[in-house]
Amino acid sequence: MSLFRKKSLTALLAQAADSEKGLKRTLGAWNLVALGIGAIIGAGLFVRTAAAAGGHAGPAVTISFIIAAVGCAFAGLCYAEFASMIPIAGSAYTYAYTTMGEIVAWIIGWALVLEYALGAATVSIAWSEYLNNLLGGAIPYEWCHSPLESAIDASGVMHTGIINAPALLILLLLSLLLIKGTEESAIVNAIIVFVKVAIVLVFIAIGWQYMKPENHVPYFIPADQPDAILPDGSHYSYASTFNHGFMGVLRGAAIVFFAFIGFDAVSTAAQEAKNPKRDMPIGILGSLVVCTILYVLFSWVLTGVAPFTDFQNKGGEASVAYAIKTYMADHAWLETLVTVAILAGFSSVILVMLLGQSRVFYSMSNDGLLPKVFADLHPKFRTPYKSNLILFLFVGAFAGFVPGRLAGDLTSIGTLFAFVLVSVGVWIMRKSNPEIVRPFKTPAVPFVSTMGVLVCGAMIISLDHVTQLTALAWMVIGLIIYFGYSQKRSKLNQ
Ligand code: ALA
Repeated sequence: MSLFRKKSLTALLAQAADSEKGLKRTLGAWNLVALGIGAIIGAGLFVRTAAAAGGHAGPAVTISFIIAAVGCAFAGLCYAEFASMIPIAGSAYTYAYTTMGEIVAWIIGWALVLEYALGAATVSIAWSEYLNNLLGGAIPYEWCHSPLESAIDASGVMHTGIINAPALLILLLLSLLLIKGTEESAIVNAIIVFVKVAIVLVFIAIGWQYMKPENHVPYFIPADQPDAILPDGSHYSYASTFNHGFMGVLRGAAIVFFAFIGFDAVSTAAQEAKNPKRDMPIGILGSLVVCTILYVLFSWVLTGVAPFTDFQNKGGEASVAYAIKTYMADHAWLETLVTVAILAGFSSVILVMLLGQSRVFYSMSNDGLLPKVFADLHPKFRTPYKSNLILFLFVGAFAGFVPGRLAGDLTSIGTLFAFVLVSVGVWIMRKSNPEIVRPFKTPAVPFVSTMGVLVCGAMIISLDHVTQLTALAWMVIGLIIYFGYSQKRSKLNQ
């Protein structure tokens, strides 16, 4: 049994053509761009920007966004070639199966769980923060934080989290919506995308007038920046390598990279696209360009309105609402509006993440690498409903009990890793199958693929050791499952 056996492209394309039996083809180019933006703008912008600026990059978080965007653009170009050539649900996993063989496909599929499942968990945690902000802090700290988080309140009492209940609630609601069907979800998504983009533009326009030039100086965090005091009373030092200067900006890039995750989720919906060859590249690259422009402007305004240290000391949660409340006080209406829009916006991100995850599992299960239950379709809705329910339990375990920062960094690392492999894959495929028609061709291969590997690889290296080791442990568990279960049951055995 070869570890590197490949799925034939012809068989794959036949499978796609046979879509009558499987998922419904309902999405056009604009639906895909909307799906992309729906997945892209979310907690990365409204929560992780503050984490990156507050702890690592300072005002230079704008450069972090540019670095992350460059990495995504290189990988995105590679994704687009694959997505136009292999328009099948399952995204990078499926691409790897035809180019680099089963074991690599398994590794990518397993890394994508970090991306989609933990991505959904991270955003649901952020949703919980903004909900509590909207309710004026009415939810007791214990019931909206993980047991690994503590904070000292205004009267000096220390609180420790028990479970993040609102995060679980939103996950449950959206899992049920997904079970009902992608078509309906896409309409809800389109409305939310409009609201979300509008609110980003409004914040940029109004916040611009409240920027203080001194908040942008110095642009990079200096090595001798005084410690910050965290909400639980402990000290945070800026002296270590990745907490100041350019290296801090690089770690910031790995953190805000989270904000770009999702353009690749478009490719997981290839089997539901009406004209995937033309529409997938438009969906992937179009949504990436729009978001990059918005992000750089937004992060410039956010770090201009509030000093970056605030985001480490006290304004880390619901950071945008915090900045408006504290520094743009005569725009209190904006805080409520932004919070409501953000809640809706996060919902669409969670939706696409959960959708992407269930579609990756759908493909892996169809290939025999995962139990059949992940590919069982609902008799009426034709959605993988059992998978959606199992995923709710899995994602919920993270959302309820793990802090947002850890879940967010794990999401970034898993995705970066998948991007590296996709970038390599495009190049391999050019060599191994030059004859295949490529409706969209990645320009300047191997330059673009090499840069994809280098930029995304640099961001992986800049993440902290806890994240790196946890991701490694996750991959080891994946390999144990592969050798213990999947390898024997793979349909390629038959
Ligand atoms: N890009 C998505 C977000 O920022 C995952 O929430």
